[in-house]
Amino acid sequence: MKIRNMEGSDCGGILAVASAWWGNTYSSDMFSKWYITHFRETCLLAEEGGRMIGFVMGFMSQTNPDETYIRIVMVDPAYRGKGVGRALYEAFAERAVALERSVIRCVTAPWNKESIAFHISLGFIMEPQEQELEGIPVCIDYDGRGGGRVLFKKRLGVEQRTVC
Ligand SMILES: CC(C)(COP(=O)(O)OP(=O)(O)OC[C@H]1O[C@@H](n2cnc3c(N)ncnc32)[C@H](O)[C@@H]1OP(=O)(O)O)[C@@H](O)C(=O)NCCC(=O)NCCS
Repeated sequence: MKIRNMEGSDCGGILAVASAWWGNTYSSDMFSKWYITHFRETCLLAEEGGRMIGFVMGFMSQTNPDETYIRIVMVDPAYRGKGVGRALYEAFAERAVALERSVIRCVTAPWNKESIAFHISLGFIMEPQEQELEGIPVCIDYDGRGGGRVLFKKRLGVEQRTVC
Protein backbone atom coordinates (compact mmCIF):
# COMPACT_ATOMS: atom_id res chain seq x y z
CA MET A 1 0.00 0.00 0.00
CA LYS A 2 1.21 3.47 -0.88
CA ILE A 3 -0.02 6.69 0.76
CA ARG A 4 0.37 9.98 -1.09
CA ASN A 5 -1.06 13.48 -1.13
CA MET A 6 -4.16 13.93 -3.28
CA GLU A 7 -4.04 15.74 -6.58
CA GLY A 8 -6.88 17.72 -8.11
CA SER A 9 -7.17 14.97 -10.71
CA ASP A 10 -8.13 12.49 -7.93
CA CYS A 11 -11.40 14.31 -7.27
CA GLY A 12 -13.41 12.55 -9.99
CA GLY A 13 -12.40 9.11 -8.74
CA ILE A 14 -13.26 10.03 -5.15
CA LEU A 15 -16.68 11.41 -6.04
CA ALA A 16 -17.38 8.32 -8.16
CA VAL A 17 -17.04 5.96 -5.16
CA ALA A 18 -17.87 8.18 -2.17
CA SER A 19 -21.58 7.44 -2.04
CA ALA A 20 -21.08 3.67 -2.35
CA TRP A 21 -18.24 3.63 0.20
CA TRP A 22 -20.10 5.83 2.73
CA GLY A 23 -23.59 4.40 2.48
CA ASN A 24 -27.07 5.86 2.42
CA THR A 25 -26.32 8.87 4.62
CA TYR A 26 -23.79 10.21 2.11
CA SER A 27 -24.27 13.87 1.32
CA SER A 28 -22.79 15.64 -1.71
CA ASP A 29 -21.32 18.39 0.51
CA MET A 30 -18.96 15.91 2.18
CA PHE A 31 -16.22 16.26 -0.42
CA SER A 32 -15.34 18.88 -3.03
CA LYS A 33 -12.36 19.55 -5.25
CA TRP A 34 -11.53 22.78 -3.46
CA TYR A 35 -10.55 20.78 -0.36
CA ILE A 36 -7.64 19.40 -2.39
CA THR A 37 -6.85 22.82 -3.84
CA HIS A 38 -6.51 24.45 -0.42
CA PHE A 39 -5.66 21.57 1.96
CA ARG A 40 -3.51 19.29 -0.17
CA GLU A 41 -0.89 18.76 2.59
CA THR A 42 -3.53 17.06 4.75
CA CYS A 43 -5.54 15.29 2.02
CA LEU A 44 -4.14 11.76 1.68
CA LEU A 45 -4.97 8.85 -0.54
CA ALA A 46 -4.10 5.16 -0.11
CA GLU A 47 -3.41 3.06 -3.21
CA GLU A 48 -2.82 -0.60 -3.88
CA GLY A 49 -1.44 -1.46 -7.30
CA GLY A 50 -2.30 2.04 -8.50
CA ARG A 51 -5.95 1.72 -7.41
CA MET A 52 -7.43 3.99 -4.72
CA ILE A 53 -8.48 1.97 -1.66
CA GLY A 54 -9.06 4.78 0.84
CA PHE A 55 -8.61 8.44 1.61
CA VAL A 56 -8.59 10.95 4.44
CA MET A 57 -9.30 14.65 4.11
CA GLY A 58 -8.48 17.18 6.81
CA PHE A 59 -7.08 20.62 7.43
CA MET A 60 -5.23 22.74 9.96
CA SER A 61 -7.41 24.85 12.22
CA GLN A 62 -6.82 28.57 11.85
CA THR A 63 -8.77 29.33 15.01
CA ASN A 64 -6.90 26.83 17.21
CA PRO A 65 -3.32 26.94 15.94
CA ASP A 66 -2.32 23.75 17.78
CA GLU A 67 -5.00 21.63 16.12
CA THR A 68 -5.81 19.70 12.96
CA TYR A 69 -9.27 18.50 11.99
CA ILE A 70 -10.17 15.42 9.99
CA ARG A 71 -13.26 16.09 7.95
CA ILE A 72 -13.75 12.69 6.37
CA VAL A 73 -12.17 9.24 6.05
CA MET A 74 -13.33 6.38 3.86
CA VAL A 75 -11.92 2.97 3.01
CA ASP A 76 -13.06 0.75 0.14
CA PRO A 77 -15.41 -1.82 1.76
CA ALA A 78 -13.37 -4.60 0.13
CA TYR A 79 -10.29 -3.43 2.07
CA ARG A 80 -11.81 -2.72 5.49
CA GLY A 81 -10.36 -4.34 8.58
CA LYS A 82 -6.90 -4.58 7.00
CA GLY A 83 -5.26 -1.51 8.56
CA VAL A 84 -5.85 0.97 5.73
CA GLY A 85 -7.76 3.45 7.90
CA ARG A 86 -5.11 3.19 10.62
CA ALA A 87 -2.32 3.78 8.07
CA LEU A 88 -4.12 6.84 6.70
CA TYR A 89 -4.56 8.30 10.20
CA GLU A 90 -0.92 7.60 11.08
CA ALA A 91 0.23 9.34 7.90
CA PHE A 92 -2.09 12.24 8.70
CA ALA A 93 -0.64 12.45 12.23
CA GLU A 94 2.91 12.56 10.85
CA ARG A 95 1.98 15.46 8.61
CA ALA A 96 0.18 17.21 11.47
CA VAL A 97 3.32 17.02 13.62
CA ALA A 98 5.46 18.22 10.71
CA LEU A 99 3.08 21.18 10.51
CA GLU A 100 3.62 21.76 14.26
CA ARG A 101 0.18 20.61 15.38
CA SER A 102 -0.20 18.48 18.50
CA VAL A 103 -3.93 17.70 18.50
CA ILE A 104 -6.21 15.94 16.00
CA ARG A 105 -9.95 16.47 16.27
CA CYS A 106 -12.72 14.80 14.32
CA VAL A 107 -16.38 13.92 14.78
CA THR A 108 -18.78 11.16 13.89
CA ALA A 109 -22.51 10.50 14.05
CA PRO A 110 -23.65 8.76 17.24
CA TRP A 111 -25.19 5.91 15.22
CA ASN A 112 -21.88 5.17 13.45
CA LYS A 113 -20.68 2.46 15.85
CA GLU A 114 -17.97 1.29 13.41
CA SER A 115 -16.47 4.75 13.27
CA ILE A 116 -16.63 5.07 17.07
CA ALA A 117 -14.84 1.71 17.48
CA PHE A 118 -12.26 2.72 14.87
CA HIS A 119 -11.43 6.01 16.57
CA ILE A 120 -11.23 4.46 20.04
CA SER A 121 -8.90 1.75 18.67
CA LEU A 122 -6.66 4.52 17.36
CA GLY A 123 -6.41 6.18 20.77
CA PHE A 124 -8.94 8.99 20.38
CA ILE A 125 -10.98 10.03 23.41
CA MET A 126 -14.65 10.98 23.24
CA GLU A 127 -15.00 14.44 24.69
CA PRO A 128 -17.50 14.53 27.58
CA GLN A 129 -20.83 16.22 26.76
CA GLU A 130 -23.89 17.22 28.77
CA GLN A 131 -25.95 14.60 26.94
CA GLU A 132 -25.30 10.90 26.39
CA LEU A 133 -27.05 8.44 24.09
CA GLU A 134 -26.63 4.80 25.11
CA GLY A 135 -23.52 5.79 27.06
CA ILE A 136 -22.02 7.75 24.15
CA PRO A 137 -21.42 11.49 24.79
CA VAL A 138 -23.17 13.51 22.08
CA CYS A 139 -22.70 17.19 21.33
CA ILE A 140 -26.19 18.42 20.47
CA ASP A 141 -26.58 20.54 17.32
CA TYR A 142 -22.87 20.30 16.53
CA ASP A 143 -23.45 21.29 12.91
CA GLY A 144 -25.96 24.08 13.59
CA ARG A 145 -28.55 22.09 11.61
CA GLY A 146 -29.73 19.90 14.44
CA GLY A 147 -27.14 17.17 13.96
CA GLY A 148 -25.60 15.71 17.10
CA ARG A 149 -22.02 14.41 16.90
CA VAL A 150 -19.53 12.45 18.97
CA LEU A 151 -16.45 14.67 19.35
CA PHE A 152 -13.07 12.91 19.23
CA LYS A 153 -9.74 14.28 20.28
CA LYS A 154 -6.24 12.83 20.17
CA ARG A 155 -3.12 14.44 21.51
CA LEU A 156 -0.19 13.44 19.35
CA GLY A 157 2.37 11.54 21.37
CA VAL A 158 6.11 11.23 21.56
CA GLU A 159 6.21 8.52 18.86
CA GLN A 160 4.66 10.80 16.20
CA ARG A 161 6.91 13.67 17.23
CA THR A 162 9.98 11.43 16.93
CA VAL A 163 9.00 10.25 13.43
CA CYS A 164 9.16 13.79 12.19
C1 LIG B 1 -14.18 3.62 9.69
C2 LIG B 1 -13.25 3.11 8.56
C3 LIG B 1 -12.51 4.30 7.94
C4 LIG B 1 -12.21 2.14 9.19
O1 LIG B 1 -11.26 1.79 8.20
P1 LIG B 1 -10.51 0.38 8.22
O2 LIG B 1 -9.42 0.42 7.20
O3 LIG B 1 -11.49 -0.72 8.09
O4 LIG B 1 -9.90 0.35 9.69
P2 LIG B 1 -8.58 -0.44 10.15
O5 LIG B 1 -8.57 -1.80 9.51
O6 LIG B 1 -7.38 0.41 9.91
O7 LIG B 1 -8.84 -0.60 11.70
C5 LIG B 1 -8.14 0.17 12.67
C6 LIG B 1 -8.66 -0.22 14.02
O8 LIG B 1 -10.06 0.13 14.12
C7 LIG B 1 -10.83 -1.02 14.48
N1 LIG B 1 -12.04 -1.08 13.67
C8 LIG B 1 -12.15 -0.72 12.38
N2 LIG B 1 -13.41 -0.98 11.95
C9 LIG B 1 -14.06 -1.52 13.00
C10 LIG B 1 -15.38 -2.02 13.16
N3 LIG B 1 -16.28 -2.00 12.16
N4 LIG B 1 -15.74 -2.51 14.36
C11 LIG B 1 -14.85 -2.54 15.39
N5 LIG B 1 -13.56 -2.09 15.29
C12 LIG B 1 -13.19 -1.59 14.10
C13 LIG B 1 -9.97 -2.21 14.12
O9 LIG B 1 -10.27 -3.30 14.96
C14 LIG B 1 -8.58 -1.71 14.25
O10 LIG B 1 -8.09 -1.89 15.55
P3 LIG B 1 -6.67 -2.63 15.79
O11 LIG B 1 -5.69 -2.00 14.82
O12 LIG B 1 -6.38 -2.34 17.22
O13 LIG B 1 -6.93 -4.06 15.47
C15 LIG B 1 -14.06 2.31 7.49
O14 LIG B 1 -14.86 1.35 8.14
C16 LIG B 1 -14.97 3.19 6.63
O15 LIG B 1 -14.56 3.67 5.58
N6 LIG B 1 -16.26 3.36 7.03
C17 LIG B 1 -17.22 4.15 6.25
C18 LIG B 1 -16.96 5.64 6.36
C19 LIG B 1 -16.95 6.11 7.82
O16 LIG B 1 -17.80 5.76 8.61
N7 LIG B 1 -15.94 6.92 8.17
C20 LIG B 1 -15.74 7.40 9.54
C21 LIG B 1 -16.53 8.60 9.85
S1 LIG B 1 -15.74 10.09 9.24
